[in-house]
Amino acid sequence: MAEAVFFTDADFEQYRKLIYNESGIHFTPTNRSILESRLKERLRDKDIDVRTYFSTISRDKEELKNFLDSITTNLTRFFRNQAHFDALERYVVPELLKIRRGSPGTTLKIWSAGCSTGEEPYSIAMLMNELLPPPWRFEIVASDISLKCLISGKEGFYEESRIAGIPPNYLKKYFDKVNGGYKVRPEIMSRIRFDYHNLKNDSGQRNLDMVFCRNVIIYFDEAAQTSVIKRFWDAMASKSFLFIGHSESLFGMDTQFEFVKTQWATFYRKFI
Ligand SMILES: C[S@@+](CC[C@H](N)C(=O)[O-])C[C@H]1O[C@@H](n2cnc3c(N)ncnc32)[C@H](O)[C@@H]1O
Repeated sequence: MAEAVFFTDADFEQYRKLIYNESGIHFTPTNRSILESRLKERLRDKDIDVRTYFSTISRDKEELKNFLDSITTNLTRFFRNQAHFDALERYVVPELLKIRRGSPGTTLKIWSAGCSTGEEPYSIAMLMNELLPPPWRFEIVASDISLKCLISGKEGFYEESRIAGIPPNYLKKYFDKVNGGYKVRPEIMSRIRFDYHNLKNDSGQRNLDMVFCRNVIIYFDEAAQTSVIKRFWDAMASKSFLFIGHSESLFGMDTQFEFVKTQWATFYRKFI
């Protein structure tokens, strides 16, 4: 007897639509196998078929969250795309300090959107801590759709194999060596608030000085990318900066963000 098909074209279409509507993540026939293998993994212990599971996630919001978590790609590392951090140090922070001089607040507000397990916001925090002269301060909101990642980021513990990329002097200054790895010290941890947030929705944040959303919108289609970028625009202060991944672009998008090319890296700014 022929083996029953695990995941038919009709199943794929149903799942694809639900995932897109709920998260903006866009599966295509080309990357269907990724969805299939993650779904198989998710269903392994549940002992139900894809159709029963689809009905479950259609009515159970908590299970839907867990499912969305399970299909995300969370690859990240400390100081990923070093060129962005060079541009932050040499161009963006000096510019912001000039621009904001004389303004009533002295706290720079930063959002790491799609922060995965925390390497990105911690990298930003360490560098900002080095760069800002008193009385300047900074605060970072780090958000993701993956609860597993947020828990791990909040814990701030990284195994030896994951700390490559952290300059040795930062490792010494901002981490404690603990059993099997390193733990972020409280003074850096306290600058970051980890928060569940789905980029499909408005985060409610306003007047941000910098947004990092790197290697996230690559998983969205054009329409979902355009609405996320529009929400970033609304969340950002006048004269602020946006970093997206180096394989991502706003080219051809209907947006007022200006492209900035420096000798270190390219990024975007909101200058009105
Ligand atoms: C590849 S990681 C990038 C991590 C980090 N920004 C970096 O560049 O190293 C992409 C992250 O985006 C998150 N993500 C995907 N869709 C999302 C959505 N709709 N809302 C919030 N986060 C999302 C995933 O859970 C994942 O952790």
